[in-house]
Amino acid sequence: MGFQANDREIISGLGEISIRGIDDQYERPESSSIYEDWGPMAPEAKSMQIRRWLIELTDLTGNVIPVGDLSAHAVWYGPTLSSRSMNIGISIVNDLRGKGIGSIAQRLLAEELHREGIVRVEAGTDVDNVAEQRSLLKAGFVLEGVLRRAQGRADGLHDLQVWSHIG
Ligand SMILES: CC(C)(COP(=O)(O)OP(=O)(O)OC[C@H]1O[C@@H](n2cnc3c(N)ncnc32)[C@H](O)[C@@H]1OP(=O)(O)O)[C@@H](O)C(=O)NCCC(=O)NCCS
Repeated sequence: MGFQANDREIISGLGEISIRGIDDQYERPESSSIYEDWGPMAPEAKSMQIRRWLIELTDLTGNVIPVGDLSAHAVWYGPTLSSRSMNIGISIVNDLRGKGIGSIAQRLLAEELHREGIVRVEAGTDVDNVAEQRSLLKAGFVLEGVLRRAQGRADGLHDLQVWSHIG
């Protein structure tokens, strides 16, 4: 039998988590963290083509609630299609963190990208971001190493852990 993946998953007592693609006009669900305090952004970075997904919770009464969002952009490790990986990012609304939504959503997105033919799905996260590290581990990602001084935010340069999901 071929590879079969679920496109949604239930969290007991909370409801069902699913993801769906959205365009760049869709307003992000309200969420904040020190990991998104960028400071001035680089105009050159706007050339990155970013795809987006909304994370939705269908609660126990059937209401569909936006609970976060995901993004992905291509990273090319050579000039061939098979050298393209997708680097993903995520944010969950502040009051629903730590309930398992992030790990399900990241696994669902990795599986969706694998179905599109992407073998390597990667995620970088701050070496201090323990919540995202635990969430990636539960989503089936594997820690590969540390990218030193890779990300500049408002408070300076940060080392990033790099994780991957191979499919
Ligand atoms: C990181 C994030 C996406 C993870 O999603 P989530 O739904 O909270 O994650 P999960 O519930 O799947 O897993 C979080 C794990 O970290 C633990 N954790 C530790 N500190 C936590 C914190 N401050 N908040 C939430 N979880 C925390 C949880 O206990 C859980 O581990 P466990 O299941 O082994 O107990 C979410 O917390 C978030 O949006 N954070 C702010 C934005 C961010 O950091 N994005 C990633 C940038 S790379």
